[in-house]
Amino acid sequence: MKKRVTGIPDPVLRLGIVFICFIGIVLFIRIVIIPSPLKETGSQRTSAIERELSREIYFAGSDICSDCHDEESALNRSGHHKYLSCETCHGPALEHTEDSEILPSAPREREFCSQCHTYNLSRPTGFPQIFPIAHNPLDPCISCHDPHDPKTPEIPGECSACHAQIERVKIGSPHFFLRCITCHETPEGHKIQPRLVSSTKPVEREFCATCHSTESRVEDTPKIDFLIHGEDYLCWQCHYPHRPEIEK
Ligand code: HEC
Ligand code: HEC
Ligand code: HEC
Ligand code: HEC
Ligand code: HEC
Ligand code: HEC
Ligand code: HEC
Ligand code: HEC
Repeated sequence: MKKRVTGIPDPVLRLGIVFICFIGIVLFIRIVIIPSPLKETGSQRTSAIERELSREIYFAGSDICSDCHDEESALNRSGHHKYLSCETCHGPALEHTEDSEILPSAPREREFCSQCHTYNLSRPTGFPQIFPIAHNPLDPCISCHDPHDPKTPEIPGECSACHAQIERVKIGSPHFFLRCITCHETPEGHKIQPRLVSSTKPVEREFCATCHSTESRVEDTPKIDFLIHGEDYLCWQCHYPHRPEIEK
C-alpha cells in the first residue's frame, strides 16, 4: 500500500476529508442558513401552541350536549349513528351551549342524509346505502328513520298490515282459506315499496276456472260450466273475489 509522509494510508485520508466536508456543510447550514428562532425547539413549540389556541373555537364536542339533551344523547349513543358526533349534523354549536337562544340547525332535508348514504362503490362493504331517487323519493328521510337512532323499519310480514280491509272481508267469506298469494303473485319488494313494485292480479276467467270449472280436479269447490256460465264477462264483474257470495 502507498504511504504519504504523514504515514496515514491514502483511503483513510480521503474518507477523513469527506467526513470533514460533511461536518462543515452541516455546521454551515445550522449556523448561517437556519434563522435563529427556528433553532430553539422549545420556543417554537410554544408559539405553535399559542397560535392554535388563539384561533376562534366553534365546536363544543358531544359530551356537553348530554347536559341538556340527555334523551337525544342516550339514543344516539346506543344506535347506529353512535360514531357520529352531534355537531356532524347540527353544525358548530359552541355558541348554542353558551346561549341556548341561539339554535343550531337541524338537517331535515333528504340531501343531507344522502351525502353519506347514497350508493357509492368505494364505500365499505356492508355500509347501509340506498339510491335516493328510488328509495321512497316523496318523503323526508326522517319521516321513516329517527336521525338519532336510525333503524330500517320492520318490513311487515302479512299483507293485512296494509290491506287490512280486504283481509277482514275475506275472513268472513267462502274464500277464507285461500291465501292472498294464491291469486296475487307478490314480490317481496312490494312490501317495501308498494308503489314501485306491484303485485299481479288475475286477468283471465281461466284463473278462477282452475278451481271452479266442472273440468277442475280441485275438490270441495262449487263447480260451474266454464263455457256458458257468465260467458261474456270476467268472473269478478259478478263475484267480488275477496268475498264471492252468490245470491240465492
Ligand atoms: C345549557 C343547555 C344546553 C346545552 C349544553 C346544549 N343545548 Fe341544545 N338546546 C337547549 C335549549 C334550551 C334548546 C331549546 C329547546 C326548545 O326550543 O325546545 C335547545 C335546542 C337544541 C336544538 C333544536 C333546534 C331546533 O331547530 O329545534 C338542537 C338541534 C340542539 N339544541 C343541539 C344541541 C347540541 C348539538 C348540543 C351540544 C353541542 C347542545 N344542543 C347543547 C339547551 C342546550
Ligand atoms: C345524523 C344526523 C344527526 C346526529 C348525529 C344528531 N342529530 Fe339531532 N337532529 C337531527 C335531525 C335531522 C333533527 C330534526 C328532527 C326532526 O325535526 O324531527 C334533529 C333534532 C334534534 C333536536 C331537536 C329535537 C326535537 O324534537 O326537535 C335536538 C335537541 C338534537 N337533535 C340534539 C342532538 C344531540 C344532542 C346529538 C348528539 C348526541 C344529535 N342531535 C345528533 C340529526 C342529527
Ligand atoms: C356523516 C355520515 C352520515 C350521515 C350524514 C348520516 N348517516 Fe346514517 N349512518 C352512518 C353510519 C356510519 C352508519 C352506521 C353504519 C354501520 O352500522 O355500519 C349509519 C347508519 C344508518 C342507517 C342504517 C341502520 C341499520 O339498520 O343498519 C340508516 C337507516 C341511516 N343511517 C339513516 C340516516 C338518516 C335518515 C340520515 C339523515 C338524518 C343519516 N343517516 C345521516 C353515517 C351517516
Ligand atoms: C317511506 C319511508 C322511508 C323513507 C322516506 C326513507 N326510508 Fe330508508 N328505509 C325504509 C325501509 C322500509 C327500509 C328497509 C327496506 C330497504 O332496505 O329498502 C329502509 C332502509 C334504509 C337504509 C338501509 C339500507 C340497507 O341496505 O341496509 C338506509 C341507509 C336508508 N333507508 C336511508 C334512507 C335515507 C338516507 C333516506 C332519505 C334520502 C330514506 N332512507 C328515506 C323506509 C324509508
Ligand atoms: C307496506 C304495505 C303493503 C304490504 C305489506 C302489501 N301491500 Fe299490496 N299494496 C300496497 C299499496 C300502498 C298499494 C297501492 C299501490 C298503488 O296504488 O299503486 C298496494 C296494491 C296492491 C295490489 C293492487 C295492485 C294493482 O295493480 O291494483 C295488490 C293486488 C296487492 N297490493 C296485493 C298485496 C299482497 C298479496 C300482499 C301480501 C303478500 C301485499 N299487497 C302487501 C301496500 C302494501
Ligand atoms: C280468489 C283469488 C283472490 C284472493 C284469494 C285474493 N284476491 Fe285480491 N284480487 C283478486 C282479483 C281477481 C282482483 C281483481 C279485481 C278487479 O280487478 O276488480 C283482486 C284485486 C285486489 C286488489 C286491488 C284493489 C281491489 O280491491 O280491487 C288488492 C289490493 C288485492 N286484491 C289484495 C288482496 C289481498 C291483500 C288478499 C289477501 C287478504 C287478496 N287480495 C286475496 C283475487 C283474489
Ligand atoms: C284455489 C282454488 C280457488 C280459486 C283459484 C278460486 N276459488 Fe272460489 N272458491 C274456492 C273454495 C274452496 C270455495 C268455498 C267452497 C265452500 O264454501 O265449500 C270457493 C267458493 C266460491 C264461490 C261460491 C260462494 C258461495 O257462496 O257458494 C264463488 C262464487 C267463487 N268461489 C268465485 C271465485 C272467483 C270469481 C274466482 C276467481 C277470482 C275464484 N273463486 C277463485 C276455491 C277457489
Ligand atoms: C254475469 C255474471 C256472472 C259471471 C260473469 C260469473 N258468474 Fe258465477 N254466478 C253468477 C250467478 C248469478 C250465480 C248464482 C246462480 C247460479 O248458480 O247460476 C253464480 C254462481 C257461481 C258459483 C256457485 C255455483 C254453485 O253451484 O254454488 C260459482 C262457483 C261461480 N258462479 C263461479 C264463477 C266463475 C269461476 C266465473 C268466471 C269463470 C263466474 N262465476 C262468472 C253470476 C256470474
